[in-house]
Amino acid sequence: MSKILLVTSSPRGEASYSTRVAKELAGNLQAKAPGATIVHRDLAADPLPHIGSQFATAVKAPADRLTEKQAKLLAGSDAATNELLAADAVVIAAGLINFAIPSTLKSWFDHVARAHKTFRYTAEGPEGLAKGKKVYVVIASTGIYTNGSPAAPLDNARPYLKTILAFMGMTDVDFVNIEGVGLGLEPDEEILQRALGAANGVELSTAA
Ligand SMILES: Cc1cc2nc3c(=O)[nH]c(=O)nc-3n(C[C@H](O)[C@H](O)[C@H](O)COP(=O)(O)O)c2cc1C
Repeated sequence: MSKILLVTSSPRGEASYSTRVAKELAGNLQAKAPGATIVHRDLAADPLPHIGSQFATAVKAPADRLTEKQAKLLAGSDAATNELLAADAVVIAAGLINFAIPSTLKSWFDHVARAHKTFRYTAEGPEGLAKGKKVYVVIASTGIYTNGSPAAPLDNARPYLKTILAFMGMTDVDFVNIEGVGLGLEPDEEILQRALGAANGVELSTAA
């Protein structure tokens, strides 16, 4: 049975384009795989805390040495990490915020990028351990950064997402772009419908 992890992060609630399209995409994957389940991690509703010294200590400390606070922090990170490791497909939704991903999504990555769980260092260099997953990233933005746009260097979201996902072993990543919303060059509804069409066109494939 396929497990689909849907990670949404827009701070714009019901108005979010990335959340709407990512939900459509996850629903489409589920419809094509009988028995597939969706686990939704809504980072806007339930953000993981920014990591701090307690977390940094906790990830390296023996379990029996953890303070209550450290154990709680680690439990949250373990839950998010196990959710990711259990998924066959991951759908990540992000709106561009100040030329980067939302801080809630960055915090999620800080909690799931865990040594010996999702990556490890070997004599040959780092090795991602969260392998065999297909990843779909839905990104909404007012600016247009793809298709040879001169604004491409301002986009820190896509390069970062590719880097951190690959670091954890997820190299089969497809992007669904919702660009130019609120820009006035094209009605938002048309941009949205095109993205929903793309979301409905994706197939549930096994990652390469
Ligand atoms: C605080 C804030 C910062 C934003 N910064 C950018 C930006 O740097 N570049 C951009 O293209 N769009 C920016 N936007 C526009 C959002 O990317 C756009 O509204 C997008 O639809 C947000 O995704 P969502 O619809 O899933 O919430 C910003 C929006 C907000 C609210």
